[in-house]
Amino acid sequence: MFPDRIFSGMRPTGSLHLGHYHGVLKNWIKLQSEYPCFFCVVDLHALTTHYETPDIIEKNVWEVLIDWLASGIDPAQATLFIQSHVQEHAELSLLLGMSTPLGWLERVPTYKEQIEKLHDKDLDTYGFFGYPVLMAADILLYRASLVPVGEDQVPHVEITREIARRFNYLYGREPGFEDKANEAARKLGGKRSKLYHELRNAYQQEGNEEALEQARALLQESQSLLMSDRERLFGYLEGSRKIILVEPQVMLTEASRMPGLNGQKMSKSYSNMIGLRENKVSIEKKIHKMPTDSARARRSDPGDPNKCPVWRLHQAYTNPATHEWVWRICRNAEAGCLECKQPVIDSILLEQQQMLERAQKYIDDSSLLRAIVADGCDKARKLAYETMRDVREAMGISYS
Ligand code: TRP
Repeated sequence: MFPDRIFSGMRPTGSLHLGHYHGVLKNWIKLQSEYPCFFCVVDLHALTTHYETPDIIEKNVWEVLIDWLASGIDPAQATLFIQSHVQEHAELSLLLGMSTPLGWLERVPTYKEQIEKLHDKDLDTYGFFGYPVLMAADILLYRASLVPVGEDQVPHVEITREIARRFNYLYGREPGFEDKANEAARKLGGKRSKLYHELRNAYQQEGNEEALEQARALLQESQSLLMSDRERLFGYLEGSRKIILVEPQVMLTEASRMPGLNGQKMSKSYSNMIGLRENKVSIEKKIHKMPTDSARARRSDPGDPNKCPVWRLHQAYTNPATHEWVWRICRNAEAGCLECKQPVIDSILLEQQQMLERAQKYIDDSSLLRAIVADGCDKARKLAYETMRDVREAMGISYS
């Protein structure tokens, strides 16, 4: 009924690093030529945790956009925009909040986790509690069918599905249809009629597929029904309501295996990262300082690549011939660690060169970037407008 469409978002809370590039952006770049893609800088989401330091967000919104373009996100293919510039995100979030049970939000696993993890921030706020509702609004506003995210975001997409289902259940009724369906159900007889309604509720409100099957079987067995009533009841069972909001599917992005400078996962909080657009000297310095296998204290001491974080970077960045060379020189102590690091440095610099070149255009002329975003916001607004027209009408607030 609605075409496939992709939505994903990124919070502008810090500049991006190579982990983002290999873990997320390369995937987006592949997707942009396969589907209509909406990529959104979710500054309102950033405010839920950084409401005391909005200046950080403003700076990073533009940095993140440049990083996306530098990576190869193509504004001629994908729609790039800023969440707060499309006011419908805020409006839909408010409206979805009307019917979202508190229990659903309390049960989102990231909620308590984040509060504990970011213990230096006061996240005992309405805004942070409502994070998943805002995220549901992002996705549902564009009737996106596919949401590429990592494992940690799966519960958020799940709750988005629940919010959409409940919305359609509450507001997607077709006039007159329900009365006729109820009339037909009554003809099933008291006990069966009651069971039918229970099973239908279980399917529509909780997505219980087993209940759907049971209800279908119940209708099959009811020989006394008129054909027209049977069809009506089958239809009513599965909905026969307008689908106003589309339930999205998760498109799971494999976790990035990009190792950081200390061998742990690359992450801003571990300060073990290389930026997506970092200068040559700084990259060289960081890699030169990387620890290696501690058994290799001197050049003449043999080492084990499996105990060395630099080897992990080789695996991500250099070719099989280099890998062979690394094993030889390390196991046999034929060359020093600095020499071993050089091909990694070269490969990263080569990758960065392309990114730096792409970014330069937007740094030199910031009006180019503003134009891309303005265009993206316009495209986004057009879809958002259509959805909100249907949502307002369904909720009975489209008076004129
Ligand atoms: N919560 C996501 C994160 O922290 C960001 C996000 C906001 C998002 N809205 C979204 C991701 C909609 C996918 C779809 O990474």
